[in-house]
Amino acid sequence: MSKKNLSRKKLSIGVLISGSGTNLQALLDASEKKSYPAKVSVVISNKADAFGLKRAEKKNIPTHVIPHEDFTSRQDFEERLIQTLDKFGVELVVLAGFMRVLSSYFIKKYSGRILNIHPALLPAFPGTDAIRKAWDYGVRLTGVTVHFVDEGTDTGPIILQKEVFVHPQESLDVFSKKIHKVEHQLLPKAIRLYAEGKLSIQGRKVLIKEVSPSTSQTSACKGRQKR
Ligand code: GRF
Repeated sequence: MSKKNLSRKKLSIGVLISGSGTNLQALLDASEKKSYPAKVSVVISNKADAFGLKRAEKKNIPTHVIPHEDFTSRQDFEERLIQTLDKFGVELVVLAGFMRVLSSYFIKKYSGRILNIHPALLPAFPGTDAIRKAWDYGVRLTGVTVHFVDEGTDTGPIILQKEVFVHPQESLDVFSKKIHKVEHQLLPKAIRLYAEGKLSIQGRKVLIKEVSPSTSQTSACKGRQKR
């Protein structure tokens, strides 16, 4: 990274979680490095017992619990999310195991500024429990996808994908660990690309600057504007 980039303000990320937060941990660890162009400004969970909250507290990152069941409508719940993200000046929203569907109200507000990590090679195995579904199906090849979030379920433009091979006799536990290991590399990598302004959307395709078409793992997005 050039000296010019090092002096730039880090991109402010808000991470939404519901559980263990191992992907959040990967981001917290990455953002501690001076050269990493993004930082976690706030962690929001819809579950009070999400272990990810403890991971954030340990690093002195502000946390908020916003239980969806406290709200009478989805829009009220999302309005509270938006208020909290705004309060921390969040520029990019990262869904890292956030187990709530977001409506078009929220998606429009952060259009092109929401990333999700999914533990399969989309469009295969969208939705919940993708690791188990791929393992049950008996696939030999699956993987991890980081994509922009649109109004469908795991249908947004794909930023990065990485394959994971499945051995026919390996346990679900071993297989899950392999997937998570790849997730923890791919999510910080995708956020770095976004933060460095290297992503641009062309239709459904996400183009990554400085990556030749033959080596690109891309598919589609709307990148951070150069600042
Ligand atoms: C990950 O497998 C992610 O791909 C999916 O939810 C899981 C969250 O795991 N969206 P963790 O809470 O980050 O450990």
